Amino acid sequence: MEKIIDENKQGQAFVIESKSKSTRKLFLESYGCQMNFSDSEIVASILAKEGFSTTQNLEDADLVLVNTCSIRDKAEQTIRKRLEKYNAVKRINTGMKVGVLGCMAERLKKKFLEEEKIVDLVVGPDAYKDLPNLIKEVDAGREAVNVILSKDETYGDIAPVRLGGNGVSAFVSITRGCDNMCTFCVVPFTRGRERSRAPESILNEIKDLSEKGYKEVTLLGQNVDSYLWYGGGLKKNFKEASEIQKATATNFSELLAMVAQAEPKMRFRFSTSNPQDMTLEVLHTMSEYSNICNYIHLPVQSGSTRILTEMNRQHTREEYKSLIDNVRSIIPDCAISQDMITGFPTETEADHKDTLSLMEYVKYDFGFMFMYSERPGTMAARKLEDDVPLDIKKRRLTEIVSAQRKHSAYRTKQYIGETVEVLIEKQSKKSDAHWSGRTPQNTVAVFPKEGYKVGDFVNVKIASSTSATLIGEALGYSVNN
Ligand code: SAH
Ligand code: F3S
Repeated sequence: MEKIIDENKQGQAFVIESKSKSTRKLFLESYGCQMNFSDSEIVASILAKEGFSTTQNLEDADLVLVNTCSIRDKAEQTIRKRLEKYNAVKRINTGMKVGVLGCMAERLKKKFLEEEKIVDLVVGPDAYKDLPNLIKEVDAGREAVNVILSKDETYGDIAPVRLGGNGVSAFVSITRGCDNMCTFCVVPFTRGRERSRAPESILNEIKDLSEKGYKEVTLLGQNVDSYLWYGGGLKKNFKEASEIQKATATNFSELLAMVAQAEPKMRFRFSTSNPQDMTLEVLHTMSEYSNICNYIHLPVQSGSTRILTEMNRQHTREEYKSLIDNVRSIIPDCAISQDMITGFPTETEADHKDTLSLMEYVKYDFGFMFMYSERPGTMAARKLEDDVPLDIKKRRLTEIVSAQRKHSAYRTKQYIGETVEVLIEKQSKKSDAHWSGRTPQNTVAVFPKEGYKVGDFVNVKIASSTSATLIGEALGYSVNN
Protein backbone atom coordinates (compact mmCIF):
# COMPACT_ATOMS: atom_id res chain seq x y z
CA MET A 1 0.00 0.00 0.00
CA GLU A 2 1.96 3.01 -1.10
CA LYS A 3 0.63 6.20 0.36
CA ILE A 4 1.61 9.51 -1.06
CA ILE A 5 0.54 11.89 1.62
CA ASP A 6 -1.60 14.48 -0.05
CA GLU A 7 -1.76 17.66 1.89
CA ASN A 8 -4.59 18.74 -0.35
CA LYS A 9 -6.86 16.28 1.29
CA GLN A 10 -9.56 18.05 3.24
CA GLY A 11 -8.58 19.00 6.73
CA GLN A 12 -10.76 17.38 9.32
CA ALA A 13 -13.23 19.38 11.36
CA PHE A 14 -14.52 18.09 14.65
CA VAL A 15 -17.40 18.48 17.06
CA ILE A 16 -17.13 18.45 20.82
CA GLU A 17 -19.83 19.10 23.36
CA SER A 18 -19.03 21.76 25.87
CA LYS A 19 -20.36 21.12 29.38
CA SER A 20 -20.71 24.77 30.25
CA LYS A 21 -23.41 26.89 28.68
CA SER A 22 -21.79 28.57 25.78
CA THR A 23 -22.50 31.41 23.51
CA ARG A 24 -19.40 30.99 21.33
CA LYS A 25 -18.82 28.47 18.63
CA LEU A 26 -15.45 27.10 17.55
CA PHE A 27 -14.63 25.61 14.16
CA LEU A 28 -11.37 23.67 14.53
CA GLU A 29 -9.58 22.17 11.57
CA SER A 30 -6.33 20.19 11.35
CA TYR A 31 -3.85 19.55 8.56
CA GLY A 32 -0.57 17.64 8.46
CA CYS A 33 0.89 15.02 10.75
CA GLN A 34 -0.59 12.89 13.52
CA MET A 35 0.99 15.19 16.07
CA ASN A 36 -1.15 18.06 14.77
CA PHE A 37 -4.32 16.02 15.12
CA SER A 38 -3.23 15.06 18.61
CA ASP A 39 -2.44 18.70 19.48
CA SER A 40 -5.88 19.77 18.26
CA GLU A 41 -7.37 17.47 20.89
CA ILE A 42 -5.41 19.45 23.48
CA VAL A 43 -6.65 22.74 22.01
CA ALA A 44 -10.23 21.43 22.11
CA SER A 45 -9.76 20.51 25.76
CA ILE A 46 -8.38 23.97 26.66
CA LEU A 47 -11.19 25.80 24.86
CA ALA A 48 -13.99 23.54 26.14
CA LYS A 49 -13.03 24.80 29.62
CA GLU A 50 -13.44 28.34 28.30
CA GLY A 51 -17.01 27.55 27.32
CA PHE A 52 -16.53 27.09 23.58
CA SER A 53 -18.67 24.49 21.91
CA THR A 54 -17.62 23.31 18.48
CA THR A 55 -19.44 23.37 15.21
CA GLN A 56 -18.83 21.63 11.90
CA ASN A 57 -20.37 24.56 10.05
CA LEU A 58 -17.84 27.19 9.19
CA GLU A 59 -20.68 29.64 8.65
CA ASP A 60 -21.79 29.33 12.32
CA ALA A 61 -18.35 29.88 13.82
CA ASP A 62 -17.38 32.75 16.13
CA LEU A 63 -13.82 31.47 16.18
CA VAL A 64 -12.07 29.50 13.43
CA LEU A 65 -8.79 27.78 14.31
CA VAL A 66 -6.69 25.97 11.74
CA ASN A 67 -3.80 23.75 12.83
CA THR A 68 -1.26 24.07 10.05
CA CYS A 69 1.61 22.16 8.43
CA SER A 70 4.83 23.58 6.93
CA ILE A 71 6.57 20.38 5.91
CA ARG A 72 6.35 21.02 2.17
CA ASP A 73 5.41 24.09 0.18
CA LYS A 74 2.25 22.37 -1.07
CA ALA A 75 1.06 21.95 2.53
CA GLU A 76 1.38 25.69 3.10
CA GLN A 77 -0.40 26.50 -0.18
CA THR A 78 -3.33 24.34 0.95
CA ILE A 79 -3.64 26.41 4.13
CA ARG A 80 -3.46 29.69 2.16
CA LYS A 81 -6.38 28.47 0.02
CA ARG A 82 -8.31 27.57 3.14
CA LEU A 83 -7.75 31.09 4.47
CA GLU A 84 -9.34 32.45 1.27
CA LYS A 85 -12.40 30.35 2.01
CA TYR A 86 -12.56 31.67 5.60
CA ASN A 87 -12.24 35.16 4.18
CA ALA A 88 -15.28 34.66 1.97
CA VAL A 89 -17.28 33.55 5.03
CA LYS A 90 -15.96 36.41 7.14
CA ARG A 91 -17.32 38.89 4.64
CA ILE A 92 -20.81 37.76 5.65
CA ASN A 93 -20.10 36.79 9.27
CA THR A 94 -18.06 39.89 10.12
CA GLY A 95 -17.65 39.07 13.83
CA MET A 96 -15.83 35.83 13.08
CA LYS A 97 -12.22 35.60 14.31
CA VAL A 98 -9.57 33.48 12.63
CA GLY A 99 -6.55 31.92 14.33
CA VAL A 100 -3.65 30.02 12.84
CA LEU A 101 -2.03 27.31 14.98
CA GLY A 102 0.86 24.90 14.45
CA CYS A 103 3.96 24.89 12.32
CA MET A 104 3.06 27.64 9.85
CA ALA A 105 2.25 29.93 12.78
CA GLU A 106 5.65 29.18 14.26
CA ARG A 107 7.47 29.63 10.96
CA LEU A 108 5.85 32.90 9.90
CA LYS A 109 5.15 34.39 13.32
CA LYS A 110 3.93 37.99 13.23
CA LYS A 111 4.49 38.11 9.47
CA PHE A 112 1.32 36.06 9.15
CA LEU A 113 -0.79 38.99 10.38
CA GLU A 114 0.76 41.20 7.70
CA GLU A 115 0.59 38.67 4.88
CA GLU A 116 -2.92 37.43 5.51
CA LYS A 117 -5.22 40.22 6.60
CA ILE A 118 -7.88 37.73 7.65
CA VAL A 119 -5.74 36.29 10.46
CA ASP A 120 -6.41 37.65 13.97
CA LEU A 121 -4.44 35.18 16.05
CA VAL A 122 -1.10 33.37 15.57
CA VAL A 123 -0.23 30.61 18.04
CA GLY A 124 2.77 28.26 17.85
CA PRO A 125 2.71 24.57 18.86
CA ASP A 126 3.92 25.17 22.43
CA ALA A 127 1.66 28.11 23.27
CA TYR A 128 -1.85 26.62 23.29
CA LYS A 129 -2.24 27.10 27.03
CA ASP A 130 -2.13 30.82 26.31
CA LEU A 131 -5.13 30.60 23.96
CA PRO A 132 -7.69 31.87 26.52
CA ASN A 133 -5.60 35.04 27.07
CA LEU A 134 -4.90 35.48 23.39
CA ILE A 135 -8.60 35.23 22.55
CA LYS A 136 -9.27 37.98 25.12
CA GLU A 137 -6.65 40.13 23.39
CA VAL A 138 -8.36 39.59 20.05
CA ASP A 139 -11.74 40.42 21.60
CA ALA A 140 -10.23 43.68 22.86
CA GLY A 141 -9.08 44.47 19.32
CA ARG A 142 -5.40 43.85 19.96
CA GLU A 143 -2.88 41.72 18.09
CA ALA A 144 -2.49 38.26 19.51
CA VAL A 145 0.69 36.34 18.74
CA ASN A 146 2.45 33.73 20.87
CA VAL A 147 5.11 31.61 19.22
CA ILE A 148 7.35 30.97 22.22
CA LEU A 149 8.80 27.46 22.17
CA SER A 150 9.08 25.60 25.44
CA LYS A 151 11.76 23.65 27.30
CA ASP A 152 9.22 21.27 28.81
CA GLU A 153 6.67 18.83 27.52
CA THR A 154 4.09 21.59 27.93
CA TYR A 155 0.81 19.65 27.78
CA GLY A 156 1.41 16.62 30.03
CA ASP A 157 -1.28 17.79 32.46
CA ILE A 158 -4.04 18.28 29.90
CA ALA A 159 -6.51 15.50 29.19
CA PRO A 160 -7.12 15.75 25.45
CA VAL A 161 -10.70 15.75 24.20
CA ARG A 162 -10.80 12.82 21.74
CA LEU A 163 -11.98 14.27 18.46
CA GLY A 164 -13.37 12.58 15.38
CA GLY A 165 -11.80 9.24 16.31
CA ASN A 166 -13.24 5.75 16.16
CA GLY A 167 -13.21 5.21 19.94
CA VAL A 168 -10.82 2.30 19.39
CA SER A 169 -7.38 3.74 18.63
CA ALA A 170 -5.84 6.93 19.98
CA PHE A 171 -2.58 8.88 19.86
CA VAL A 172 -0.59 9.75 22.96
CA SER A 173 2.33 12.13 22.60
CA ILE A 174 5.54 11.17 24.41
CA THR A 175 8.10 13.59 23.03
CA ARG A 176 8.00 17.02 21.41
CA GLY A 177 10.43 18.73 19.07
CA CYS A 178 13.42 17.29 17.25
CA ASP A 179 17.17 17.75 17.67
CA ASN A 180 18.20 15.95 14.50
CA MET A 181 18.50 18.87 12.11
CA CYS A 182 18.05 16.95 8.88
CA THR A 183 19.06 19.60 6.36
CA PHE A 184 15.75 19.51 4.43
CA CYS A 185 13.43 19.64 7.43
CA VAL A 186 11.58 22.58 8.92
CA VAL A 187 10.35 20.69 12.03
CA PRO A 188 13.28 21.56 14.35
CA PHE A 189 12.48 25.24 13.63
CA THR A 190 8.73 24.96 14.10
CA ARG A 191 8.57 22.50 16.98
CA GLY A 192 11.74 23.36 18.84
CA ARG A 193 14.18 21.21 20.76
CA GLU A 194 13.50 17.68 21.87
CA ARG A 195 11.93 17.03 25.27
CA SER A 196 10.17 14.05 26.79
CA ARG A 197 7.05 13.65 28.81
CA ALA A 198 6.98 12.08 32.30
CA PRO A 199 6.21 8.32 32.24
CA GLU A 200 3.52 8.73 34.95
CA SER A 201 1.66 11.24 32.84
CA ILE A 202 1.84 8.95 29.79
CA LEU A 203 0.67 5.97 31.86
CA ASN A 204 -2.22 7.97 33.31
CA GLU A 205 -3.42 9.01 29.88
CA ILE A 206 -3.22 5.42 28.64
CA LYS A 207 -5.10 4.13 31.70
CA ASP A 208 -7.81 6.66 31.08
CA LEU A 209 -8.07 5.58 27.44
CA SER A 210 -8.26 1.94 28.47
CA GLU A 211 -11.09 2.73 30.92
CA LYS A 212 -12.92 4.50 28.13
CA GLY A 213 -12.73 1.35 26.00
CA TYR A 214 -9.82 2.21 23.70
CA LYS A 215 -7.92 -0.85 22.43
CA GLU A 216 -4.89 0.61 20.70
CA VAL A 217 -2.51 3.47 21.45
CA THR A 218 0.15 4.97 19.19
CA LEU A 219 2.96 6.67 21.09
CA LEU A 220 3.83 9.80 19.15
CA GLY A 221 6.93 11.89 18.69
CA GLN A 222 9.18 13.21 15.93
CA ASN A 223 11.84 10.81 17.15
CA VAL A 224 10.32 8.42 19.71
CA ASP A 225 13.44 6.25 20.06
CA SER A 226 15.31 9.14 21.55
CA TYR A 227 12.73 9.40 24.38
CA LEU A 228 14.56 10.10 27.64
CA TRP A 229 12.94 11.11 30.90
CA TYR A 230 15.29 12.29 33.61
CA GLY A 231 12.99 14.62 35.45
CA GLY A 232 12.19 17.16 32.76
CA GLY A 233 13.97 19.58 30.51
CA LEU A 234 15.55 19.46 27.12
CA LYS A 235 17.17 16.25 25.91
CA LYS A 236 20.33 18.14 24.99
CA ASN A 237 20.78 19.14 28.66
CA PHE A 238 20.87 15.52 29.86
CA LYS A 239 24.68 15.74 30.01
CA GLU A 240 24.33 18.20 32.87
CA ALA A 241 21.79 16.10 34.81
CA SER A 242 22.73 14.86 38.29
CA GLU A 243 24.12 11.37 38.85
CA ILE A 244 20.82 10.31 40.43
CA GLN A 245 18.86 11.65 37.48
CA LYS A 246 21.13 9.78 35.09
CA ALA A 247 20.87 6.54 37.04
CA THR A 248 17.08 6.66 37.26
CA ALA A 249 16.35 7.95 33.74
CA THR A 250 13.78 6.12 31.59
CA ASN A 251 14.63 5.39 27.95
CA PHE A 252 12.26 4.44 25.11
CA SER A 253 12.70 0.71 25.49
CA GLU A 254 11.88 0.96 29.20
CA LEU A 255 8.87 3.15 28.49
CA LEU A 256 7.59 0.61 25.95
CA ALA A 257 7.92 -2.19 28.48
CA MET A 258 6.15 -0.08 31.12
CA VAL A 259 3.11 0.66 28.95
CA ALA A 260 2.93 -2.91 27.60
CA GLN A 261 2.93 -4.30 31.14
CA ALA A 262 0.52 -1.72 32.51
CA GLU A 263 -2.16 -2.50 29.89
CA PRO A 264 -1.60 -6.05 28.65
CA LYS A 265 -4.90 -6.06 26.72
CA MET A 266 -4.05 -2.96 24.78
CA ARG A 267 -2.11 -2.86 21.53
CA PHE A 268 0.78 -0.41 21.34
CA ARG A 269 2.36 1.24 18.31
CA PHE A 270 4.84 4.06 18.02
CA SER A 271 5.86 6.61 15.42
CA THR A 272 8.33 7.84 14.22
CA SER A 273 11.61 5.98 14.56
CA ASN A 274 14.84 7.42 13.27
CA PRO A 275 17.31 4.73 12.23
CA GLN A 276 20.29 6.06 14.17
CA ASP A 277 18.34 6.17 17.45
CA MET A 278 16.63 2.79 17.22
CA THR A 279 18.39 0.39 19.60
CA LEU A 280 18.54 -3.39 19.69
CA GLU A 281 17.07 -3.08 23.18
CA VAL A 282 13.89 -1.66 21.62
CA LEU A 283 13.72 -4.56 19.15
CA HIS A 284 14.10 -7.06 22.00
CA THR A 285 11.36 -5.33 24.00
CA MET A 286 9.10 -5.50 20.95
CA SER A 287 9.71 -9.21 20.59
CA GLU A 288 9.20 -9.79 24.32
CA TYR A 289 5.73 -8.21 24.57
CA SER A 290 3.04 -9.58 22.30
CA ASN A 291 0.94 -6.43 22.72
CA ILE A 292 3.61 -4.24 21.12
CA CYS A 293 2.75 -4.38 17.42
CA ASN A 294 5.34 -5.79 15.06
CA TYR A 295 5.50 -2.77 12.87
CA ILE A 296 8.17 -0.08 12.53
CA HIS A 297 7.93 3.09 10.52
CA LEU A 298 11.58 3.63 9.69
CA PRO A 299 12.05 6.59 7.32
CA VAL A 300 15.27 6.47 5.33
CA GLN A 301 14.77 9.31 2.78
CA SER A 302 17.40 7.99 0.35
CA GLY A 303 19.35 4.83 -0.42
CA SER A 304 22.53 6.76 -1.27
CA THR A 305 25.09 7.30 1.48
CA ARG A 306 26.28 10.47 -0.26
CA ILE A 307 22.76 11.95 -0.21
CA LEU A 308 22.19 10.75 3.37
CA THR A 309 25.30 12.72 4.35
CA GLU A 310 24.05 15.82 2.52
CA MET A 311 20.76 15.38 4.39
CA ASN A 312 22.62 15.15 7.71
CA ARG A 313 20.98 11.80 8.40
CA GLN A 314 23.23 10.16 10.99
CA HIS A 315 23.75 6.82 9.26
CA THR A 316 24.95 5.25 6.03
CA ARG A 317 23.13 2.95 3.62
CA GLU A 318 25.06 -0.01 5.06
CA GLU A 319 24.19 0.87 8.67
CA TYR A 320 20.53 1.14 7.71
CA LYS A 321 20.68 -2.25 5.99
CA SER A 322 22.22 -3.84 9.04
CA LEU A 323 19.45 -2.35 11.20
CA ILE A 324 16.92 -3.93 8.82
CA ASP A 325 18.78 -7.26 9.15
CA ASN A 326 18.55 -6.97 12.94
CA VAL A 327 14.82 -6.26 12.77
CA ARG A 328 14.32 -9.31 10.55
CA SER A 329 16.29 -11.61 12.84
CA ILE A 330 14.87 -10.37 16.17
CA ILE A 331 11.25 -9.89 14.98
CA PRO A 332 10.81 -12.11 11.90
CA ASP A 333 7.22 -11.04 11.17
CA CYS A 334 7.84 -7.30 11.58
CA ALA A 335 6.39 -4.96 8.96
CA ILE A 336 8.54 -2.01 7.96
CA SER A 337 7.53 1.19 6.19
CA GLN A 338 9.52 4.08 4.77
CA ASP A 339 9.53 7.80 4.00
CA MET A 340 11.47 8.72 0.88
CA ILE A 341 12.41 12.01 -0.75
CA THR A 342 13.21 12.21 -4.47
CA GLY A 343 15.19 14.99 -6.09
CA PHE A 344 17.12 16.22 -3.05
CA PRO A 345 19.75 18.74 -4.28
CA THR A 346 22.62 17.10 -6.21
CA GLU A 347 20.77 13.75 -6.46
CA THR A 348 22.08 11.92 -9.53
CA GLU A 349 20.63 9.02 -11.47
CA ALA A 350 23.10 6.77 -9.62
CA ASP A 351 21.84 8.02 -6.23
CA HIS A 352 18.28 7.37 -7.37
CA LYS A 353 19.25 3.82 -8.41
CA ASP A 354 20.68 3.36 -4.90
CA THR A 355 17.27 4.27 -3.50
CA LEU A 356 15.55 1.75 -5.79
CA SER A 357 18.02 -0.98 -4.89
CA LEU A 358 17.63 -0.31 -1.16
CA MET A 359 13.87 -0.60 -1.61
CA GLU A 360 14.40 -3.88 -3.42
CA TYR A 361 16.52 -5.09 -0.48
CA VAL A 362 13.99 -4.16 2.22
CA LYS A 363 10.75 -4.71 0.26
CA TYR A 364 8.87 -2.32 2.51
CA ASP A 365 5.29 -3.13 3.44
CA PHE A 366 4.29 0.44 2.59
CA GLY A 367 5.73 3.89 2.25
CA PHE A 368 5.23 7.63 2.10
CA MET A 369 7.05 9.22 -0.83
CA PHE A 370 7.62 12.87 -1.62
CA MET A 371 9.40 15.19 -4.04
CA TYR A 372 11.93 17.42 -2.33
CA SER A 373 10.45 20.79 -1.43
CA GLU A 374 12.88 23.51 -0.39
CA ARG A 375 11.95 25.01 2.98
CA PRO A 376 13.08 28.53 3.85
CA GLY A 377 15.64 28.75 6.64
CA THR A 378 16.74 25.10 6.52
CA MET A 379 20.39 24.20 6.00
CA ALA A 380 19.63 22.72 2.58
CA ALA A 381 17.93 25.93 1.47
CA ARG A 382 20.89 27.99 2.67
CA LYS A 383 23.69 25.79 1.34
CA LEU A 384 22.38 23.81 -1.62
CA GLU A 385 20.73 24.78 -4.85
CA ASP A 386 17.39 23.05 -5.54
CA ASP A 387 18.94 21.78 -8.76
CA VAL A 388 16.99 18.67 -9.76
CA PRO A 389 14.47 19.74 -12.41
CA LEU A 390 10.80 19.17 -11.56
CA ASP A 391 10.24 16.68 -14.39
CA ILE A 392 13.13 14.54 -13.12
CA LYS A 393 11.87 14.71 -9.52
CA LYS A 394 8.45 13.63 -10.79
CA ARG A 395 9.79 10.76 -12.87
CA ARG A 396 11.90 9.48 -9.98
CA LEU A 397 8.88 9.74 -7.67
CA THR A 398 6.80 7.70 -10.12
CA GLU A 399 9.52 5.06 -10.22
CA ILE A 400 9.77 4.68 -6.46
CA VAL A 401 5.98 4.70 -6.11
CA SER A 402 5.66 1.88 -8.60
CA ALA A 403 8.46 -0.09 -6.91
CA GLN A 404 6.63 0.38 -3.61
CA ARG A 405 3.34 -0.79 -5.12
CA LYS A 406 5.07 -3.96 -6.29
CA HIS A 407 6.63 -4.56 -2.86
CA SER A 408 3.37 -3.87 -1.03
CA ALA A 409 1.60 -6.40 -3.24
CA TYR A 410 4.39 -8.89 -2.55
CA ARG A 411 4.03 -8.36 1.21
CA THR A 412 0.24 -8.63 1.36
CA LYS A 413 0.36 -11.80 -0.76
CA GLN A 414 2.46 -13.51 1.93
CA TYR A 415 -0.59 -13.43 4.22
CA ILE A 416 -2.83 -15.45 1.91
CA GLY A 417 -3.82 -18.64 3.75
CA GLU A 418 -2.58 -17.20 7.08
CA THR A 419 -4.68 -16.26 10.08
CA VAL A 420 -4.10 -12.73 11.37
CA GLU A 421 -5.43 -10.79 14.35
CA VAL A 422 -7.52 -7.80 13.31
CA LEU A 423 -8.72 -5.00 15.57
CA ILE A 424 -12.01 -3.80 14.06
CA GLU A 425 -11.99 -0.03 13.57
CA LYS A 426 -14.87 0.80 11.24
CA GLN A 427 -17.09 -0.28 8.43
CA SER A 428 -15.31 -0.98 5.17
CA LYS A 429 -15.50 1.96 2.77
CA LYS A 430 -16.41 -0.32 -0.09
CA SER A 431 -19.08 -2.46 1.55
CA ASP A 432 -21.46 -1.92 4.47
CA ALA A 433 -21.51 -5.70 4.99
CA HIS A 434 -17.79 -5.75 5.86
CA TRP A 435 -15.65 -4.57 8.76
CA SER A 436 -12.29 -2.92 8.28
CA GLY A 437 -9.45 -3.10 10.77
CA ARG A 438 -5.71 -3.51 10.99
CA THR A 439 -3.33 -6.36 11.76
CA PRO A 440 -0.47 -5.79 14.23
CA GLN A 441 1.67 -5.20 11.11
CA ASN A 442 -0.61 -2.24 10.33
CA THR A 443 -2.04 -3.80 7.17
CA VAL A 444 -5.72 -3.14 6.54
CA ALA A 445 -7.91 -6.25 6.53
CA VAL A 446 -11.61 -6.49 5.58
CA PHE A 447 -14.03 -9.33 6.27
CA PRO A 448 -17.80 -9.99 6.55
CA LYS A 449 -19.32 -8.40 9.66
CA GLU A 450 -21.21 -11.39 11.06
CA GLY A 451 -21.83 -10.79 14.79
CA TYR A 452 -18.67 -8.79 15.47
CA LYS A 453 -18.49 -5.14 16.43
CA VAL A 454 -16.09 -2.19 16.34
CA GLY A 455 -13.34 -2.68 18.96
CA ASP A 456 -13.33 -6.50 18.79
CA PHE A 457 -10.08 -8.42 18.27
CA VAL A 458 -10.87 -11.08 15.68
CA ASN A 459 -8.85 -13.85 14.05
CA VAL A 460 -9.25 -13.53 10.31
CA LYS A 461 -8.20 -16.10 7.74
CA ILE A 462 -6.88 -14.32 4.65
CA ALA A 463 -8.16 -15.55 1.29
CA SER A 464 -6.96 -12.84 -1.09
CA SER A 465 -5.18 -9.50 -1.22
CA THR A 466 -4.64 -6.29 -3.13
CA SER A 467 -1.46 -4.24 -2.70
CA ALA A 468 -3.10 -2.34 0.16
CA THR A 469 -5.66 -4.71 1.69
CA LEU A 470 -6.11 -8.23 2.99
CA ILE A 471 -9.49 -9.86 2.39
CA GLY A 472 -10.68 -12.77 4.49
CA GLU A 473 -13.21 -14.31 6.85
CA ALA A 474 -13.45 -14.23 10.64
CA LEU A 475 -12.73 -17.48 12.47
CA GLY A 476 -13.64 -16.18 15.94
CA TYR A 477 -12.45 -13.81 18.65
CA SER A 478 -8.72 -13.72 19.30
CA VAL A 479 -7.30 -14.44 22.77
CA ASN A 480 -6.88 -10.72 23.32
CA ASN A 481 -10.57 -9.96 23.03
N1 SAH B 1 10.40 12.60 12.35
C1 SAH B 1 9.21 13.07 11.73
C2 SAH B 1 9.38 13.41 10.32
C3 SAH B 1 8.43 14.47 9.97
S1 SAH B 1 8.42 14.90 8.37
C4 SAH B 1 8.05 12.15 11.96
O1 SAH B 1 7.57 12.07 13.04
O2 SAH B 1 7.55 11.52 11.04
C5 SAH B 1 7.72 13.48 7.56
C6 SAH B 1 8.40 13.19 6.28
O3 SAH B 1 8.24 14.28 5.39
C7 SAH B 1 9.89 13.01 6.39
O4 SAH B 1 10.27 11.74 6.83
C8 SAH B 1 10.34 13.29 4.98
O5 SAH B 1 10.27 12.13 4.17
C9 SAH B 1 9.30 14.28 4.47
N2 SAH B 1 9.86 15.63 4.37
C10 SAH B 1 10.31 16.41 5.37
N3 SAH B 1 10.78 17.57 4.88
C11 SAH B 1 10.62 17.52 3.53
C12 SAH B 1 10.94 18.41 2.47
N4 SAH B 1 11.52 19.57 2.69
N5 SAH B 1 10.61 18.04 1.20
C13 SAH B 1 10.03 16.85 0.96
N6 SAH B 1 9.72 15.97 1.93
C14 SAH B 1 10.01 16.29 3.20
FE1 F3S C 1 12.69 16.37 10.56
FE2 F3S C 1 14.79 14.79 10.58
FE3 F3S C 1 13.62 15.51 12.86
S1 F3S C 1 13.04 14.63 9.20
S2 F3S C 1 11.49 15.88 12.32
S3 F3S C 1 14.69 16.85 11.47
S4 F3S C 1 14.42 13.49 12.32
